[in-house]
Amino acid sequence: MDRKAQTMTSAVGSNRSSRIAGFHKKSPRERLDLVAAFAGLDAGQVAHLANMGNLDPVLADKLIENVIGTMNIPVGIATNMKIDGEDVLIPMATEESSVVAAVCNAAKQNYDAGFSTSVSGNLMIAQVQAVDVRDPSAARLRILERREEIKAACDACDPVLLSLGGGFRDLEVRLLDTPTGTMVVTHLIVDTRDAMGANAVNTMAEKLAPSIAAWSGGRVYLRILSNLADRRLARAHAVWKTADIGGPEVRDGIVSAYQFAAADPYRAATHNKGIMNGISAVVLATGNDTRAVEAGAHAYAARSGRYTSLTTYEVNKDGDLSAAIELPLAVGLIGGATKVHPTARACLAILGVTTAERLARIIAAVGLAQNFSALKALATTGIQKGHMALHAQNIAMMAGAVGEEIDRVARILVERASVRMDVASRVLEEVRGS
Ligand code: MEV
Repeated sequence: MDRKAQTMTSAVGSNRSSRIAGFHKKSPRERLDLVAAFAGLDAGQVAHLANMGNLDPVLADKLIENVIGTMNIPVGIATNMKIDGEDVLIPMATEESSVVAAVCNAAKQNYDAGFSTSVSGNLMIAQVQAVDVRDPSAARLRILERREEIKAACDACDPVLLSLGGGFRDLEVRLLDTPTGTMVVTHLIVDTRDAMGANAVNTMAEKLAPSIAAWSGGRVYLRILSNLADRRLARAHAVWKTADIGGPEVRDGIVSAYQFAAADPYRAATHNKGIMNGISAVVLATGNDTRAVEAGAHAYAARSGRYTSLTTYEVNKDGDLSAAIELPLAVGLIGGATKVHPTARACLAILGVTTAERLARIIAAVGLAQNFSALKALATTGIQKGHMALHAQNIAMMAGAVGEEIDRVARILVERASVRMDVASRVLEEVRGS
């Protein structure tokens, strides 16, 4: 028997083969039983995974492939937010403590003025890559000359989008120098209205590809949207009065924290991670694509060639702290999980949004609020004090505390300034003994 056959036989013999014929055709429960046998899950783990909570197993099984269960993430509400003069309650789905509290705190400190927001539009970009083009500069012009033909072909792909006022808006052709020659990259720029738009623009790119191959005289490979949605920017700005945030020293500490992130990619990565703590939580709660938004945000942060901060902070003429954020926010209200996931629908209802633009504006404001709180904590008491106070409950649970024990243990951990697992285990024993 050869080595490969031997390995396969022993894997099957020990019931540990990952090659499970027809796995995708089975029901979630059948798959779960197979996985349980593979991994040696106990009855409690199986029962836990089998309980899909408030997501209909039939729907879960349609959203992705090979479903065996669901993963519940808490949804918290950020209070105090006033955006463009309107009070908003913001649902945030996150597993990280302090994230929701950070937004509430930031918004409480500028509630009267709130946040002002804007967007650059709903334009998405699809890229069509042509290679082996003999005369790239002339090919670029040949494609640009077909603008009206391209517009008609794109618009014909999606009559519904067209009827809603969306559709083809612009055309760009870029020449990219690569080790294998100059690539001719066509950008189809499309207004996708209230859809995130990935499916709409990908369909257009695929439809146009044969024509672009013919006009360029080359071969077309990739036909896909760009997540650097820099024609779909959302912006928010806000002013925190120096007197409301603890005085000039706090204000200057925040400005200095921003300047650190602006100057240093190592710090900017953490600074922007904090921003995305807020942004991704709302993106997830509304059933939107967190990875698309994150990729776009980080690519935008590096657009100058050096990765930098997504926010800016300055002292305004009144001596107050003026802050701003700008980033691509490709989110939608229709399509995918946004439309069919009941939690996403309920979260959108809480937000009361009726357009993708408004959703993007709210999300930008949340990112700014999140960042303000993080910088304020970092520039003053440090992040651990507040974070650990909230994290203490998680540690208490990890140590085995249940019910009322959780708060009691967490309180004692904070009082002793020692939010650690080993201490939590000892404290839990004390609490149970008393
Ligand atoms: C932690 O999840 C996020 C922070 O590190 C953000 C920051 O450093 O700005 C606190």
